[in-house]
Amino acid sequence: MVGRMSKPYHIQIGAADINGATIALLPGDPGRVEKIANKGESPKFLASHREYTSYLTQVGKKPVLICSTGIGGPSTSICVEELAQIGIRTFIRVGTTGAIQPHVKVGDLVITQGAVRLDGASHHFAPSVFPAVADFETTCRLVKACEVLKYSYHVGITASSDTFYQGQERYDSYSKYVPPHLQGSLKQWQQLGVLNFEMESATLYTMGAALQLKTACISGVIVNRTASEKADPSIMDEVQNRVIEAAVKSITQV
Ligand code: URA
Repeated sequence: MVGRMSKPYHIQIGAADINGATIALLPGDPGRVEKIANKGESPKFLASHREYTSYLTQVGKKPVLICSTGIGGPSTSICVEELAQIGIRTFIRVGTTGAIQPHVKVGDLVITQGAVRLDGASHHFAPSVFPAVADFETTCRLVKACEVLKYSYHVGITASSDTFYQGQERYDSYSKYVPPHLQGSLKQWQQLGVLNFEMESATLYTMGAALQLKTACISGVIVNRTASEKADPSIMDEVQNRVIEAAVKSITQV
């Protein structure tokens, strides 16, 4: 652990700033950090440097850090590494996602039990045969929170990709081209029962195992790709609110 007064370079916060917090909620988007912090008591802005914006808040009796990861594995790996250095031990990603199964509806929540490692960063922590799996207890707390809040949720496998377009087999890109080795991959993940695509859980979970940290992930479904390739902007606030409520509630579940 770094000294209390020193601040890792990217996150620009140190152990002295976080009041002994050991739990962090991790949205991708720096713009969502304040909103999450406001669900707790006495939210306090800490820092904003590059993609890493952080607030400290209080949930129940616990200090909880909220810190954005930016998009994708590389920036997530820096965030998790530096937060671990200052004392965080439980990391809960609070994200958005695209569903790829017809029964996973827009507005539902997906709790990622395990991730297909379509990223690069996780391979710097463990060989590709190693599974990316969530912490069981933290995942159970997310499930309980969804039950209490009566939110529709699914628990299962997520494909976690370094790219939003090619890696998720999207053809509505600039080139409209998906390289041959990724053509048909969407169908394959569907056949294997994968629920959704997002971009951070593979890195987060593999780091969890490599560094003995607790990790979990809950995401709000903003698009169902079996029905449409475009997210409807009018549902975004409601979906984000739901996933935030569930993640915050999970902290007080036993
Ligand atoms: N995030 C992703 O990575 N993919 C989606 O389809 C939606 C959100």
